[in-house]
Amino acid sequence: MLTQLQIHHVRNLQQVTLQDLSRINIFFGANGSGKTSVLESVHMLGMARSFRQGATRTLIQHGQRDCTVYGMTADTGTGSASRVPVAVQRTLTGEVQIKLGGQTIRSVAELVEHLPLQVLNAASFELLTGAPAARRQFLNWGVFHVEQRFFAEWQRFQRCLKQRNKLLRHGKLDHSELSVWTRDLAKSGERIHEFRLQYFEALAPRFRTMMEQLSPSLGGLELRYRKGWDRSLNFSEALAASVQADTDQGYTHTGPQRADIKVTASGHSAAETLSRGQQKLVVCGLKLAQGQLMSQKRQGSCVYLVDDLPAELDARHCGLVCDALAGLQAQVFITCVAKADLEHMWPAGLKPALFHVERGAVVELRESEETPVPGQEGPDLVTGFMPLP
Ligand SMILES: Nc1ncnc2c1ncn2[C@@H]1O[C@H](COP(=O)(O)OP(=O)(O)OP(=O)(O)O)[C@@H](O)[C@H]1O
Ligand SMILES: [Mg+2]
Repeated sequence: MLTQLQIHHVRNLQQVTLQDLSRINIFFGANGSGKTSVLESVHMLGMARSFRQGATRTLIQHGQRDCTVYGMTADTGTGSASRVPVAVQRTLTGEVQIKLGGQTIRSVAELVEHLPLQVLNAASFELLTGAPAARRQFLNWGVFHVEQRFFAEWQRFQRCLKQRNKLLRHGKLDHSELSVWTRDLAKSGERIHEFRLQYFEALAPRFRTMMEQLSPSLGGLELRYRKGWDRSLNFSEALAASVQADTDQGYTHTGPQRADIKVTASGHSAAETLSRGQQKLVVCGLKLAQGQLMSQKRQGSCVYLVDDLPAELDARHCGLVCDALAGLQAQVFITCVAKADLEHMWPAGLKPALFHVERGAVVELRESEETPVPGQEGPDLVTGFMPLP
């Protein structure tokens, strides 16, 4: 869980310091005040990039050369006092610096493993209505966080696929070289599929249970996994069957790179049938089930970044999502326009921290007086880190 956060030059957030973050953190304020920018900052801390595709440069405040987010993570679950500082800086020239526990790290995977994030925002609808790539990414995220062997296998698979496609694109095909890459690709691809299938089989029942909680009236939901090639074949056979088409068109047609998840409601495509609010609930169900599975398989849970939850949802369903988020034991950063939209949605005993966002400044409302406490007060977190160059 993140206990402290300091943001420099992220979009309209000039300098924001948040002390004593809670499990549930609500950011409310008018349009354009900076709520999504706070979530983007946390995302940058956990993923070293924006959650908007290809928009990382636009994270940097106009007129600045870089932006930086510092955070302090604490292992609250085990009761131990292990606190780990994290810092990510990005520059306009595209450089990225990541520090974890005071050490510079090169691999974003290490960062992702340290601070697993789930995003629920307007773009999350892509999970249902977008191209299969969004669903593969969803699947990969889940497998990555519960199966340690997945990442290395994934890298191996990508390497084999790239090499095989490169050969296929060449005019004169070296058949012996192609068969070597095909053999390695088949082996690696089969393993990727096995990891995904095992994960999916654990996820699907959790998704169903989660949906019963989020939308009891929405019955008949089914989740199906497609491995990316003919069901009746193993991957090696599928590659052999498509070798002519692959050669003709210069790339590998079948495989885990074509996998997908289908969501149906009473036998119909959920993307084409469900209302916008129902779609949002299904997306929440998928992501919440994923977070739940992750926390059961490994120590700690992920951090949820939920942008404008009340949009598209009626108050009852909004409350049901909040209940489910509360039940996960995950830390939540959630935004809304008016404080009242989310303030009283949480189970008794779980008091959210409230932050008012106004023109790039974030002010915490303290429980007793409900008066603003300027976010910039308190010790400077930056001094706790080795400064970034
Ligand atoms: N690179 C940038 N530099 C400075 N300001 C920026 C930059 N990018 C965006 N902004 C501004 O930051 C402000 C905050 O944007 P943000 O998306 O965080 O608002 P919000 O509070 O989430 O609003 P809404 O309720 O409409 O979703 C906007 O006014 C936006 O124009
Ligand atoms: Mg916003």
